Amino acid sequence: MSDIKIAPSLLAADFSKLEEEVARIEDHVDWLHLDVMDGHFVPNISFGIPVIESLRPTTSLFFDCHIMTTNPDAFLPELAGAGANLVTMHIEAVPDPTGAAAAARVNELGFGLVINPLTPFDAVSPYVELCDVVVVMSVEPGFGGQAFMPEVLPKVESAREWVEDRGLTTDIQIDGGITPENAGMAAGAGATVLVAGSAVFRAEDPQTAVEKIRRATATT
Ligand code: DX5
Ligand code: ZN
Repeated sequence: MSDIKIAPSLLAADFSKLEEEVARIEDHVDWLHLDVMDGHFVPNISFGIPVIESLRPTTSLFFDCHIMTTNPDAFLPELAGAGANLVTMHIEAVPDPTGAAAAARVNELGFGLVINPLTPFDAVSPYVELCDVVVVMSVEPGFGGQAFMPEVLPKVESAREWVEDRGLTTDIQIDGGITPENAGMAAGAGATVLVAGSAVFRAEDPQTAVEKIRRATATT
């Protein structure tokens, strides 16, 4: 599988020097994954729109904003204004995402739907055509540094099959616990965007970590 995008999650970066952290990886990755958490939809609080806005002038990377909040569609204009490129939200938070997808388009944002490890692919399949990306969580959302759940790989396969059968170009993203050791499996199942937080930003050399992940996907 070629054409894999690597999207490091800023959640694992050193928050005291975000600009520097992004600068270390920006020439080697495809997207920057930004995890917004509200302490309500998930049991953790990360960062919000002001941080995205502050980072925007420091890099030209594509901002993939993963919104883990109870009302993810409430802030689409603000996210667009802050410089987000893509907004992904959980089907568990917006059971009918039709309005949210339309609002994202009005705000010139890419749109994606995320499913938690226990949510079946069927929950999003009616809406795939509204999406630029479908995200399969490979950890319970809320925290970085958790172990990859290989049991979600069949859902990645289902999503891949769904988009291919319909001739769609929808990206399939996998998020959580990705390492050089399991990246090949994820890409082999059909993921085209790999989110990796700890494996990149907690590595001694993030650039080498990204290269290892990319190499692992090249062999699938
Ligand atoms: C979890 C987040 C993930 C996570 C990825 O709620 O959505 O993006 O930070 O980090 P690692 O790669 O450390 O699991
Ligand atoms: Zn995420």
